[in-house]
Amino acid sequence: MISKLNHVAIAVPDLDAAITLYRDVLGADVSKKADLPDHGVTVAFVNLDNTKIELLYPLGESSPIISYLTKNASGGIHHLCYEVEDILKSRDQLLEKGMRILGSNEPKEGAHGKPVLFLHPKDFCGTLIELEQV
Ligand code: CO
Repeated sequence: MISKLNHVAIAVPDLDAAITLYRDVLGADVSKKADLPDHGVTVAFVNLDNTKIELLYPLGESSPIISYLTKNASGGIHHLCYEVEDILKSRDQLLEKGMRILGSNEPKEGAHGKPVLFLHPKDFCGTLIELEQV
């Protein structure tokens, strides 16, 4: 079902500082910031040869990142994103196996304009997992 690691997402308390850190200290290629109102986040991507790092910052009062940053004031790893070929087929297989999907079970448009779903961390070793159809 899952294939490549698409990205690792890091929640950050200061997005500009995180961009500067990755671009100027670590010498990485970092994208422009983009607001994703459907997900309550502003993101910037660090483009590495073999994967990406998604820098996540809260957007709006009900952002899902706010509670994470309240518990982890200096930021931290928030989720892993794995690629799948067919997100609806993957969803149905996971539901059949008793796995829980966050929200409505319907894919939303993700940061790359592709459909995504989030899986319940309690079903996956305490890790929030995003699936992205590529
Ligand atoms: Co993500």
